[in-house]
Amino acid sequence: MIIETFITSPFQQNTRVLVCEETQKAVCLDPGDSANIIAAFINKSNFDLQAIALTHGHLDHIGGVSDLSKLFPQAEIILHKDDEDLYYGLPEQPLFMGIPRQQLKALGLEYETPPTLSRNWKDGEIYSVGNLYFKILHCPGHTPGHIVLAEEKMRKVFGGDCLFAGSIGRTDLPGGDYEQLINSITNKILPLGDDVTVYSGHGDDTNIGHEKATNPFLTGVYQMTQG
Ligand SMILES: [Fe+2]
Repeated sequence: MIIETFITSPFQQNTRVLVCEETQKAVCLDPGDSANIIAAFINKSNFDLQAIALTHGHLDHIGGVSDLSKLFPQAEIILHKDDEDLYYGLPEQPLFMGIPRQQLKALGLEYETPPTLSRNWKDGEIYSVGNLYFKILHCPGHTPGHIVLAEEKMRKVFGGDCLFAGSIGRTDLPGGDYEQLINSITNKILPLGDDVTVYSGHGDDTNIGHEKATNPFLTGVYQMTQG
């Protein structure tokens, strides 16, 4: 698997292009911004972009969907149905974060409504990209429709904003739920195995064993102060 990471938007979000080396089929995971840079990488190597795959509907993960979709109109756009309100409400999202409307343009946070989704993820489906097989796991908590993509044979999980190196996703935005997020991590992500590498939506890569042993949200250290 080729994994190319682009850090996009002022939110330092990790956009990734994942490519099956044997077939050159590719997906772009969470294009937060910078569609031109992502497209240049895909076109330079002649990768076949089959989808824009979204872990969830927050603006820093979907802000580049419109522009990327215009450059690759054949690529499906896929999101869990429980995040559709966030997705289609993209132009309003900065306001929920407390940013005044009159500052949106100056901050580069003025968005158009993104294009219609092609379909929704289903919990447990296997999504193939050439010879890569991603198991889609619904992991609500950060948002209601958050999913992660686990390539079990390759021992990799693309976890969006569920689990970070040393932390977890925030749950104070609309639709967030701390207990639900801990349950998603505990019951869906950790069982993938200690040796599985976690590619998160922000920050460095990590692995499940390391997070189980040291992440204060999972070891119980923060239990008294959260949720
Ligand atoms: Fe997020």
